[in-house]
Order: sequence, then C-alpha cells, then structure tokens
Amino acid sequence: MTTLKVLVVGSGGREHALAWALSNSPLLTRLYVAPGNPGTATLAENVPIGVLDIPALVDFAVAHGIDLVVPGPEAPLVAGLADALAPTGVRCCGPTAAAAALEGSKSFAKEICDAAGIPTARWERFSDAAAALDFVARRGAPIVIKADGLAAGKGVTVAATEAEANAAITALLTENALGESGATIVIEECLTGEEVSLFALCDGTACILLGAAQDHKRIGENDTGPNTGGMGAISPPPGFPPDAQEAALDLFIRPALREMAARGTPYTGILFAGLMLTPDGPKLIEYNVRFGDPETQALLPRLQSDLLPALVAACDGELAQFSLSWLDLTCVSVVVAERGYPGAYAKGSPIGGIDRAAAVPHAAIFHAGTDLRDGHLVSAGGRVLTVCGTGPTATAARAAAYAAVEALDYPSGVYRRDIGKKDVLF
Ligand code: AMP
Ligand code: GLY
Repeated sequence: MTTLKVLVVGSGGREHALAWALSNSPLLTRLYVAPGNPGTATLAENVPIGVLDIPALVDFAVAHGIDLVVPGPEAPLVAGLADALAPTGVRCCGPTAAAAALEGSKSFAKEICDAAGIPTARWERFSDAAAALDFVARRGAPIVIKADGLAAGKGVTVAATEAEANAAITALLTENALGESGATIVIEECLTGEEVSLFALCDGTACILLGAAQDHKRIGENDTGPNTGGMGAISPPPGFPPDAQEAALDLFIRPALREMAARGTPYTGILFAGLMLTPDGPKLIEYNVRFGDPETQALLPRLQSDLLPALVAACDGELAQFSLSWLDLTCVSVVVAERGYPGAYAKGSPIGGIDRAAAVPHAAIFHAGTDLRDGHLVSAGGRVLTVCGTGPTATAARAAAYAAVEALDYPSGVYRRDIGKKDVLF
C-alpha cells in the first residue's frame, strides 16, 4: 500500500485516540484533525473547520490530497459527508446519509431489525399523542419512550411509571421539546440486563470485529444519577469474551449488512451495536454509525495491528481477506469531567499535571474538552479528559488509570472511581 494522508473529523477523546492510533502507522504521511483539540495538536495538524461544515471539509480534503477521511461523530455522516466526498474520490470511512439512518432514525433501525430478524425490543411508532398515550395505558410500565431522530443523548426515557411515560410523550409530541427529532417517537418494551458496546468495521458486504467495551453512562458511582455521554469504559467487557463478540456479529451486524445492501444502501464504516445482555440472550438497543466515546479510548490501546490499512480496506471493499490482532490485555478508560456535568459547568478551569499523569506506566491521556489559554491547559467542555490504563487484568488496568488520574492537578475535575469494577456481568 502507498503512503496516506488522513483527515480525522471531530474534537473529542475518541478523535484524539483515533489520531494516536493512526499516527502509529508506518503508512501515514500527514495527519490532520478538524477541528481537533490540544491533544490532537501534539500528533497532527489541527484544521479550524467545524464537523458540520461539509463543503469546507470536502474542499480541504481535495485541496490537500487527502486519501482517507475518518469521521468521529455521527452528525456529519447523517448530514451527508460520505455522499459529498464520494464524487471527489476521497475515501470516507463512514456510511452515506441513507445508511447513517441506522443511527439517525430509531424507527428505521427497528424496521431493519424486523426485516432482517435481528433480536430487539418489541416496538411501535407514533406521531399522534393520543394514540401513544392510549398505547401506554394498555401496555403499562415500565416502558421506553424514544425520540425517532438524533437528540444528543436526550431522546430516551426509560419510564418506571405510566406517569413518566405520559410526560415524555407529551413533551415530545405535544410540546415539541426536541423539535423535528421528536415529532415521531418509538415506544418499546423495557429490557433488563447489562449493556455492552460491540464494534464492527464494515465494507458494504463483509465485516470484521473491532472488539467490545462496556460504557458507564451514569454520572454517579454504582450507576446512579443522570445519563451522560459516557463516564468511562472497560474493554473487553468481563463476561462478554471474544467468542461471544464474534457470535454477536452473526446476530447483529451481518444480517443488517445484508438488509442494507439489498435495499441499495450498503453500509461502509464502523457499525456500533449497543446491546443488552438479557436473560433471553443479547438484544439490540440501538445502532450507532461510528466509534463510541469513551469506548474507543479503551479499545484502541489493545489493538496490535495497524488501524490505517483496515480502515482503507473497509472503504475499498476489501475486508473479506482482512484480520486484526489484539493484545490480550484489559484497558480501562476513565472520563474526567468538569464539576457540574452533565448539567451546567464552568469553562476555563486550570488543568495541571498532564505530563506527570501521562508518565505513569501503562497509562495514556486523551484530551476532549480542553483548550490552551496563554499557553496553559484549561477546561473547555463537559467531558474534559479520558485517562486510560492498560494491564493484564482489569485490576491492573484500573490501577494504572487511577494512578494517572490522581497525578493530575485539576481541582474542578470529577470522575467515577468504579469504572471497570464490576467483574461479572452475567
Ligand atoms: P440511547 O440514548 O439510545 O443510548 O439510550 C439511552 C439508554 O436508555 C440506553 O443506554 C439504555 O440504558 C436505555 N434503553 C434504551 N432502550 C431501552 C430498552 N428497550 N429497555 C431498557 N433500557 C433501554
Ligand atoms: N459512549 C456511547 C456513545 O458513544 O454513544
């Protein structure tokens, strides 16, 4: 393979981890990140283009002879980044807008599941509030109410009571709390079990396993308090070993690829299946059309193979002959957030001790919501840093990650102390 120029799109911990993995590739000649963060600036050239400025991303890719674009978040894919790059010949490791509807529309994902026989919660779609309220009155609680469209993690209510379900329906369908995203809703059966994130790299027809991780979505220890974008992850998830992950490709990824191809919208890129390990076996909670954050930060330190040729093979339809090898290690990623997150939080808080933390053996630091002010690192977002530790056991990985967290001098940083602590999932 010839050498490659790569553009990563995004600015979070996930994109810093992707930039780090790609920068280790002997095939890489230039790496750009748009818009990036102070962490990606140490590995790549940051380009001041927003993730939704598709014309500017395409122009940049063409003008700089980019060989591969790697989108981090879903928004540019749902908005058509892959479609806009296709006529230019620049590869994009992500789906077209039509295929990104697997994440962009929950009812579309459910239709694919039903058509392809993919195990998932039973569901119905509504856009009329009276019909939705009547359905809940007949079904009872617990029950799950979801905005159909993208809602930045705010579109799902797991309602323990009918009153909670009714309030969610009224907010979405009567009060338009999420606008168009919530003008259609999905109401589904409430599942119980541990959740895991499964990642596959897809080339339209074939796929390979990118591993699995368990996210910790709640802000508080022991899974309490409000949901967040994710407060930490462990990979591999205890109780969901590689053979179970491979089996899950046959249940959740390959049938979806066949169905998407049959509809004339083949799926290329990372397909992330959010699974619940229920007493009746694993079931799909949702698809995402991208890597997870903070799962990626826990997956990539375990990757032994070069990531770059795998992403290119996915774009070129050549994954069938491809395989990746992984280190037999556990990685734990701990998110350090600004106090107040996921509610209101301050920006500009000083962050010290980054070099000391990064020097902890078997630890790595990925930036997310950071900024440089007069040469000093400060906070600039809710999830500020992801601190990773790697080791032969979950205990060793946790020890490395938390030793690095404690080496930070970031007084307004908060984090969960129990990431990766559950060692038996099911
Ligand atoms: P999402 O915003 O789509 O990631 O969903 C947020 C969370 O809601 C998921 O991580 C699950 O914990 C929960 N959830 C979604 N669907 C269901 C379901 N059918 N049963 C139980 N919990 C669910
Ligand atoms: N950590 C969950 C996500 O990336 O959607």
